[in-house]
Amino acid sequence: MRLKPATLISGSLRLPGDKSISHRAALIGALADGRTEISNFSTAADCSSTLNCLRELGISIERNHDRVTFAGNQKLSAPRRPLDCGNSGSTLRILAGVLAGQDFTAELIGDESLSARPMRRIIEPLELMGAKIEATDGKAPLKVHGSSRLNPITYKLPIASAQVKSAVLFAGLNAKGRTTVIETSPTRDHTERLFNGFGVPVTPNKDLSVTLNGPARFTGGSITVPGDASSAAYFVAAAMLLPHSKLTIEGVGLNPTRAAFLSVLASWGADISTDDVQTERNEPYGAINVRGGLCGTASDRMLSRSIIPSLIDELPLLAVVGSQLEGGIQIRDAAELRHKESDRLATTATNLRAMGAEVEEFDDGLAVSGRTQLHGASIDSHGDHRIAMAFSVAALIAEGETEIAGAECVAISFPEFFTLLESLAQR
Ligand code: S3P
Repeated sequence: MRLKPATLISGSLRLPGDKSISHRAALIGALADGRTEISNFSTAADCSSTLNCLRELGISIERNHDRVTFAGNQKLSAPRRPLDCGNSGSTLRILAGVLAGQDFTAELIGDESLSARPMRRIIEPLELMGAKIEATDGKAPLKVHGSSRLNPITYKLPIASAQVKSAVLFAGLNAKGRTTVIETSPTRDHTERLFNGFGVPVTPNKDLSVTLNGPARFTGGSITVPGDASSAAYFVAAAMLLPHSKLTIEGVGLNPTRAAFLSVLASWGADISTDDVQTERNEPYGAINVRGGLCGTASDRMLSRSIIPSLIDELPLLAVVGSQLEGGIQIRDAAELRHKESDRLATTATNLRAMGAEVEEFDDGLAVSGRTQLHGASIDSHGDHRIAMAFSVAALIAEGETEIAGAECVAISFPEFFTLLESLAQR
C-alpha cells in the first residue's frame, strides 16, 4: 500500500461493530437459552474465526452481512477438526475457557503469529478449575480436555489481561459456586457487562475483583454492537494531527476501559468532544467529534502503570502521535506489547525510526522524541494490523510517500480501513 500525505481529514462516518464485543456476543449467543440476534457484528477476520470455530463445534449460525443470529438452546459438540483461530488471540484464549467446561476434547490452532504467543496464562487457571490442557512449550496448538463439572476458583491475574479474565469467567459458567477473578489493573470489562446484559450476574467486589455464581446460563436477546473504538482511534488521531480537519464518528463504543485514548489525546491538546451518549446491554456508545490541530500544552506525556491496559491496542498509534508533541512522550509498564500480533515495542520503534523519529526502546516501553517532521519510508507491518494502521496515520503527516508492506493485514480487525481513510483524507 502506498500512501501520500494529506492536508486534512473531513467527514462523518459510522464504523463496523467492536471486535471485542462481537467475539463475546457470539460466544454468548452460542451458549444462550433462546434466540440471540447480533446487529452491526464486526467485519474483522478475527470475529469470523470465532464464528467458524463455533460452527465446527456444531453451532448453527445465520449470518446476513452484519447480522448474526443464533437460534438458542444449542449444545456444543466435539469438533471433527482442530478449531482454527487464525490470528485471533481473543478467539483462542476465550474459547479455551468455554471448552474447559465441556465434556469433550478439542484442539485449538492458530497462524504463525498466534502459535508464538504465550498461553500458560490461560492454561494455569483453567487447569486449576479441573480442565486438562496439552500445549507445546506453553503455546498453541492447545488440546483442551474439558469437564462439565469444573471447580470454582478465586484467581488473581498475574498479568493484566481481559482475555485471561474472560476465559476464567466463561469457564465459571460450568463451575458450581463462586468464581472470582482479581485484577491488579483494570482491563476491558466487556465480558462482565455482557454477562450482566444477558442474564448472568457478574458482581464487582470492593477490591478490583468480580464474582460469578455458577452454574449459570445466558438468556438470549438482541444487541446492536457499538462501533469499534480501537478502529475509531486511527481517524481521531489523523484528524487531530492535521489542522483544519473536522470529523464526526457516530455510534462508537465509549466504554471507559477501552476509550482512554480519547482523554489522553485531549490531555495532549486535541479538540475532542463526545455527545449523544446512550447504552446498549450496559455498553456506552456515542458520537466522537474532532477538530484538527493542537491547543494548549500537552500534559501527562508519560503513559504508565494502571492506564496501560485501557490503552493497550492504541499504544503504537499514541507513539506516532507522541512524535509530534512538544517534548515527545514516554510509554512504560507496557512489556505486554511484546506479546501481541507482533512485538509492538520493536515494530513501533523500528518503523518510527525509519520515518525519521528518535526513539529509545526499553524492556517495557518507548521514549519518543517530539516535534519531528516525519518523512515517507518503507514500513514493514510484520503482518500486524495495528502497526499497519498506526503507520498509515504517520504516512498522512509525513513528507513524501510511504509504502506499507503487508498492509492487507488490516483485515484482521478492520477490512474497510484504507477505503474509509481515502474517502476522508483530502490532499
Ligand atoms: C482483548 C484484550 C486485549 C487486547 C486484544 C483484545 C479482548 O488483550 O490487546 O486486542 O478482546 O479481551 P489481552 O487480554 O491479552 O490484554
